[in-house]
Amino acid sequence: MGDGAGWVPVCGLDRLKAETIVRVAARDLIVIWNEGKVVACERACPHEQADLALGQVAAGRLRCPRHAASFDLRDGAITAGWPSRPLRLYPVRITGGQVWIEMQERQPGR
Ligand code: FES
Repeated sequence: MGDGAGWVPVCGLDRLKAETIVRVAARDLIVIWNEGKVVACERACPHEQADLALGQVAAGRLRCPRHAASFDLRDGAITAGWPSRPLRLYPVRITGGQVWIEMQERQPGR
């Protein structure tokens, strides 16, 4: 494993439920509370890098604050017709009320 990879604790589950979107400091990621599940994803929109921590979560989708595109929180797929790759998602684990995400090496080409 390279630097920065592995499981990292990010925030308490109660805080995430209260705030819906929590920034992961220094990692450029966010975690999202969505329909009873935790989703972790990159913070910069793959379209033009808007800050998705300012986005809206509704009906299983994360809507970008800058344009009208939104992302499916199950697989990161972007709204049909947008010239952009999908949102990158990260594995999530919850233990003892703590949310963890698994940092990975960058996957070239995605
Ligand atoms: S910057 Fe997010 S949809 Fe354009």
